[in-house]
Amino acid sequence: MQGERDRRTERLEAHAAWASQKPTDALDALRRAVDAVTGSQRAKLEEAFDGVKDALNAAKRRADGVRDATTRASAAGYDAERADLPFSRRDACFDHPILQAHHGGPASNLAVAQHSPDPAARATPLLRIIPHRHALPSLLRDLGLDRVGAELGVWKGSYSRRLLSELPDLTLHLVDSWEPVDIYQSADKQDDAYAETLQAVEPYKARTRVHRNWTSDAAKSFEDQSLDFVYVDASHDYRNCRADLIDWWPKVKVGGLFAGNDYYTGHVAAAGVTFGVKDAVDEFAAVRNLRVYVTAGNDPDGCCPDWYVLKCGE
Ligand SMILES: C[S@@+](CC[C@H](N)C(=O)[O-])C[C@H]1O[C@@H](n2cnc3c(N)ncnc32)[C@H](O)[C@@H]1O
Repeated sequence: MQGERDRRTERLEAHAAWASQKPTDALDALRRAVDAVTGSQRAKLEEAFDGVKDALNAAKRRADGVRDATTRASAAGYDAERADLPFSRRDACFDHPILQAHHGGPASNLAVAQHSPDPAARATPLLRIIPHRHALPSLLRDLGLDRVGAELGVWKGSYSRRLLSELPDLTLHLVDSWEPVDIYQSADKQDDAYAETLQAVEPYKARTRVHRNWTSDAAKSFEDQSLDFVYVDASHDYRNCRADLIDWWPKVKVGGLFAGNDYYTGHVAAAGVTFGVKDAVDEFAAVRNLRVYVTAGNDPDGCCPDWYVLKCGE
């Protein structure tokens, strides 16, 4: 819609500019023609020229008026389109100190977004869009959110290991029941996954806190605003994912990042589960005026993209 309106406005403005220039061109041509005439006819031609000049100047004033009105209408149209947008996912964090602090830095596109006269550039996402979840550690580092975080849903600890190995200052809370749940039905296999996790994070043991617990219960042992980030990857059905978002959002500090895996709603045959993550995240974000960023590509180890949200306020 925006592109279509811009093209229409551009055509109108070009036409108005052309129409405004036309009388000037015509008058210049007539002046040259009159100047070329000598002799007795010249006085009559000068008189005729003055008449034509008045008419053309009047036409030019009308054309100028049309051009100015078109420019004003175009600007008003653009403002009206922006005014129609709720002050929400487009610009919710725009003036927030978190983004201002990263102004011009690698984590943020704020400088581009804020200063460009181009509406398309102003609509640029304010945080960097990462290709997929393997790049989340570098985004956390760039945002200075690499000290203390939690991963909900750990399974065999492969993503925990990635976070811990790429963020050397990170203390990571690993939260998983390792109980039969969803597709993880067998208690034996969950015990094996727990053992594998301990092995995976062994080199980072000093910076690892393991909570073998349900996410909803574990949340009670964390202070509000105590975490730089929370990565949500436990139950993927709508109801439980929604509960995790509600329980864990307060644990993220203002200026922190809330993120998660498998931003998708629908049946995932490979998992044998109907995911409701996208619905839960979208609904959560919409009621709080949050902007949801989505990775450009799918998780290289899984099915779907990741989501992330910057917490600009409580
Ligand atoms: C998708 S796996 C986690 C994968 C891991 N984040 C990774 O990227 O390697 C989901 C894990 O969440 C755990 N889980 C599911 N629902 C849970 C809940 N309500 N509380 C605690 N753990 C849960 C399961 O036991 C399973 O190990």
